[in-house]
Amino acid sequence: MKKIVLAYSGGLDTSVCVKWLKDRGYEVIAYIGDVGQGEDFEKIEKRALVTGAKKVYIGDLKQEFINDFVIPTLQANAAYEGKYLLATALSRPIIAKHLVETAHREKASAIAHGCTGKGNDQVRFEVTAHILDPKLEIVAPVRVWEFKSREEEIDYANENNIPLTVTKKKVYSIDKNLWGISIECGVLENPWAEPPNDAYQMTVAPEDAPAKPLYIEIDFEKGVPSKINGKKYSLIDLIKKLNEIAGKYGVGRVDMVENRLVGIKSREIYEAPAATCLYKAHEDLESLVLDRELLHFKQTLSAKYAELAYYGLWYSDLKKALDAFIKETQKKVTGTVRLKLYKGSCVVVGRKSPYSLYKEELATYTEKDKFDQKLAEGFIRLWGMPYRKK
Ligand code: ARG
Repeated sequence: MKKIVLAYSGGLDTSVCVKWLKDRGYEVIAYIGDVGQGEDFEKIEKRALVTGAKKVYIGDLKQEFINDFVIPTLQANAAYEGKYLLATALSRPIIAKHLVETAHREKASAIAHGCTGKGNDQVRFEVTAHILDPKLEIVAPVRVWEFKSREEEIDYANENNIPLTVTKKKVYSIDKNLWGISIECGVLENPWAEPPNDAYQMTVAPEDAPAKPLYIEIDFEKGVPSKINGKKYSLIDLIKKLNEIAGKYGVGRVDMVENRLVGIKSREIYEAPAATCLYKAHEDLESLVLDRELLHFKQTLSAKYAELAYYGLWYSDLKKALDAFIKETQKKVTGTVRLKLYKGSCVVVGRKSPYSLYKEELATYTEKDKFDQKLAEGFIRLWGMPYRKK
């Protein structure tokens, strides 16, 4: 019997995948990757077994997800199309990596996922798996199976005694992890319609946020966030804590139309309270400690880094090379940033660092001024020389 490792979430699609693959002669190993989606994994494991999986793995990927995927992306200040902080995009290559490892451990010849043929996630799973082990066969049941609608799929699940917690009327498609949440479908498919409040899962509406602003301080050490208000946290706890704090202030909502890799535009809702605070703080600290040329050059790489993550090219050589560069730039990104959270906004209002390049005696307009203004005349003359008419 051919063995296959399926990325299993416990939802309708991947549950039907188990049965569908079994009917086609596969022995199915379900792999559940815990990237902080906060599900009841025991229940999901049971569901996989009842549905026909031979074996279930639950991988706690949270620490690796944060260390190896989230932090490098934060350090790159990478946001797809300037807005999407990539929570879903980053979770796919790590799950794919573990599917491949599980396939090796189980001596399976194939892996499978429950992504549709219209999205980015299929690309991320498959390109990653192919880079890591080109010999593994990849099966994508949802792309080929015969169901024409969600209703048909649910009927099939019921006929086959697949336990489900879904109803025929599903409002949104939601993908969640520690770094954020992606919400699609339903009324959101109309890009003119304002997202109803029930679409949001981690943030309160800005208008319902507290009437007074909240100030918080975030410390970084070499580009890695380490403290909130002077208190040390592990990375996972720091992100959880910030999600909670900033979520209460309505921070981190994004409503955008984005360009998918497969050529369609889609309307997406994202929530990433912690990520939003950390991006703002990290970028600001860099502006204090990186010299102009390094900062400007680094800024040109952010969009490229985001594209590589979004496009499923996490394990490409270009991404590896960019990582080496970015790591080098983080050596002095140590210091504290003060943020003001208020009704959906997160603004940097203060920053300090032992590596600060800011010199008050040069910037000031008071009597403390040490800037020799006479030097400016010669500088401007030389700088503007190529453009002088006479
Ligand atoms: N558009 C986003 C992305 O490509 C979110 C995808 C959400 N995925 C999902 N399975 N609901 O990363």
